[in-house]
Amino acid sequence: MGQPFPPGFLWGASTAAYQIEGSPLADGAGPSNWHRFAHTPGLVRGGETGDVACDHYRRWRDDVALMREIGLKAYRFSISWSRVMPEGARLVNERGLDFYRRLVDALVEAGIVPMATLFHWDLPAALEDRGGWLNRDSADWFADYASVVFDALDGGVRLWATLNEPWVVTDGGYYHGVLAPGHRNAFEAPIAAHNLLRAHGAAVAAYRARAPVRSAIGIVVNLAPKHPASDSDADRAAARRGDAYMNRQFLDPVFLGRYPPELPEIFGRAWPQLPDADFNAIRVPLDFVGVNYYTRNVVRGDAKARPDGARAVRQPALHTDMKWEVYPDGLTETLRMVRDRYGPVPLYVTENGAAFADAKPSEGIVDDPLRVAYLREHVAASRRAIDAGVDLRGYFAWSLLDNFEWAEGYSKRFGIVRVDYRTQKRTLKRSALAYRDIIQSNGAAV
Ligand code: FCB
Repeated sequence: MGQPFPPGFLWGASTAAYQIEGSPLADGAGPSNWHRFAHTPGLVRGGETGDVACDHYRRWRDDVALMREIGLKAYRFSISWSRVMPEGARLVNERGLDFYRRLVDALVEAGIVPMATLFHWDLPAALEDRGGWLNRDSADWFADYASVVFDALDGGVRLWATLNEPWVVTDGGYYHGVLAPGHRNAFEAPIAAHNLLRAHGAAVAAYRARAPVRSAIGIVVNLAPKHPASDSDADRAAARRGDAYMNRQFLDPVFLGRYPPELPEIFGRAWPQLPDADFNAIRVPLDFVGVNYYTRNVVRGDAKARPDGARAVRQPALHTDMKWEVYPDGLTETLRMVRDRYGPVPLYVTENGAAFADAKPSEGIVDDPLRVAYLREHVAASRRAIDAGVDLRGYFAWSLLDNFEWAEGYSKRFGIVRVDYRTQKRTLKRSALAYRDIIQSNGAAV
């Protein structure tokens, strides 16, 4: 047995609306850009969509019961903007809000702390039609929507996350076109990034302006250490650019009020002129930062690897089904980096997990030894960050359930609970049981 984690450490699991809910147009909801993207032939593997997903919209009671069974102390989910505001703005759909009201009430009753993400990639299609994140008005749209959700759920929801992984939205959605909205445009990516940051700032400001404020608010970013493949200047410069592009592009403006100096170099003539005043609105005090950590990247300089000129080099190590290297030390390194660069802000690991091709259930359980090892090693890595003085307040496994993995459809299983998509039957995996033991011992049983 190891040392327990600090008292009150929040052991949770994460999901996102479009990945698990299904019923995307039920009860007055409007379509999202992800609904539209998934229904466009050729964009998602196997033509799969979130139409049914884990049917969580109808089975949420069973899923809360599962969380209880695992002993979760917290649950991170996201709110579908287009359920709450079918056209993205103005009209509020109470039936959509009711879904989240019931969920939050059930979590609170079960003693599970709700953490809600306001934007986990599904933008109302009506707003996409008005330019989406390329439109400067998006900051106001987001603050208005956030205020509606705060009115309905603040206090029940104890931790608010404005955005999930804005880097993936801009890199995948606007630069490479592999995620919604599927654009491939170097000029658009930094503009979308900037408006996402403005939206974040506007939502935090709207939250702070409320009285009384009952909970805490922060942002969730995905970070990965960038290690040079060799000592050469070219590889070291590539690692520095990769770090600026992925890791510092969002946290530098939020904490330091400016973009990393490498970004104009990375985007060249696609780098926009930005009003100075925006940075005051972006740099607002936060109660916490959520870090999503999956892997690291070992990179070498390669001008053809756009936009940051950093080409990932595969390592001789275990990789997950996503082809992501399993590298637990990178989690400790990442958490320390955030503390060292941005100061002593409370941190949560808001996502961490692994896709592996699981065996079918046998005798009522799924044996997933690689995921069990991944979980243990990353919990241990979190512990090392705490020992190094990082103010880490919680750890959330990705994901509670196998689910719709965006452009990969249902081909990648991340759950600690298996979902049979034909019958919607849930089966605990060994990783869920291992997690239950970790939680029961407050991290000592790692
Ligand atoms: C993260 C996303 C999450 C999930 C995991 C595997 O980038 O936030 O929705 O897809 O990756």
